[in-house]
Amino acid sequence: MAKETSACKAHCLILPYPTQGHINPMVEFSKRLEHRGVKVTLVTTNFVYKDIQKEGSSIAIETISDGYDQGRISRADNFHVYLERFLQVGSRTLTELLEKLSRSDFPPNCIVYDPFLPWALDVAKKFGLLGAALFTQSWAVDVIYYHVHKGELKLPLTESEVLLPGLPPLEPQDLPSFLYILGSYPGSLEMLTGQFSNIEKADWVLCNTIYELEQEAVDWMSKIMPLRTVGPTIPSMFLDKRLEDDKDYGFSVFKPNTDACLKWLNDRPKGSVVYVSFGSLVALEAEEMQELAWGLRMSNSYFLWVVRATEEAKLPKNFVEETSEKGLMVHWCPQLEVLAHEAVGCFVTHCGWNSTLEALSFGVPMLAMPQWTDQSTNAKFIMDIWKMGLKVPVDEKGIVRREAAEHCIREIMEGERGKEIKKNAFKWKKLAKEAVDKGGSSDKNIEEFVAELVRS
Ligand code: UDX
Repeated sequence: MAKETSACKAHCLILPYPTQGHINPMVEFSKRLEHRGVKVTLVTTNFVYKDIQKEGSSIAIETISDGYDQGRISRADNFHVYLERFLQVGSRTLTELLEKLSRSDFPPNCIVYDPFLPWALDVAKKFGLLGAALFTQSWAVDVIYYHVHKGELKLPLTESEVLLPGLPPLEPQDLPSFLYILGSYPGSLEMLTGQFSNIEKADWVLCNTIYELEQEAVDWMSKIMPLRTVGPTIPSMFLDKRLEDDKDYGFSVFKPNTDACLKWLNDRPKGSVVYVSFGSLVALEAEEMQELAWGLRMSNSYFLWVVRATEEAKLPKNFVEETSEKGLMVHWCPQLEVLAHEAVGCFVTHCGWNSTLEALSFGVPMLAMPQWTDQSTNAKFIMDIWKMGLKVPVDEKGIVRREAAEHCIREIMEGERGKEIKKNAFKWKKLAKEAVDKGGSSDKNIEEFVAELVRS
């Protein structure tokens, strides 16, 4: 990887939105740039910097402030306040950082920023930097928000079917949750449509997706903006294996229970384990957590379930002890190694975009239990478009019941539909690897991005 400043061709600042699901893809993209001789400096908030495990990483880190150096506000109704403060304090501290770096031996010439923070582009432009927006959700989801931003998809939704260019017909519940449950998280919808507020100033628009996966949506938007697909942003060691020294993957805010998970998986037969995780943010209703717990137990499969420490109290009493022969529960796991493990036969997922792309890249069939934001759209594509999983039906209260969970797990692990899903999963796995392999669609796009960056 590029460590010698004098040998570097360009210097990119990389600014993710400060949550795990946004940091991971940005860090992986950074490694692909470094591999091509670009110097990279990751910029994160003071609060996240304190928490992330960054030992042994070659990537330089600088910090700015979101105005909450002692801890983020977590209550959703304060989100609007959080974003406002981030805009004010973030713009000021990013300006200070750019002033400092502009006096250094190798000042940055480009910022790759998360469009959740569009003001970063405005700040960078004042310093004459090039700007690339890196979208970290699926392109289908971005197309939907783009149409809301443009006023072409009107809210509240009145039609029973939404037709948008490059996308299959969607029912309202297939759209991101903020569009069909208006006002559910004040500030969120504004932020998501705001991703396009100054996009015309961006020199490049990048997306963590695979061209072949979302071809029609990408082709349609490519006529409007300089869009390039660069995914899946998964460590090279798991896919193309071209980046030597690719040991550290992710700047994790959580500490994975690696040894326990891998040892446990090593002792299970091929394809016998249901892996369950809801990512870094989702909090299930206690009732739903308990129904899922019983569904898992009734399925009689082995299961590895990530239940974050803050969620643990919602499990049924004595569940861990009573199911210890079948299940392993951890607070956080090395998800990529788990999904790559041959013992795993199915992934019960909230359908966060990273988890979706990861499962797809490792060819692991998915059981979709979307909770909020973009997850409902991802679930629709997983089941109906890419046909690599099932979506568990919910009852009239919107809750997945134990019988439904059990039935769907059995379908994937043992049923006829499972066989078809596994065939498709194998196809997508091959495609994901090809995309980042030499000459693949994402590889070519990253090559071109670097070439243009160096020329500019
Ligand atoms: C958030 C949103 O919830 C999601 O909808 C959006 O698409 C991205 O931002 P998050 O909920 O954390 O993300 O989910 P996801 O996108 O799946 O990212 C989670 C990341 O954490 C993945 O890269 C996954 O590999 C990693 N992870 C998860 C672990 O490493 N260990 C775990 O135990 C669980």
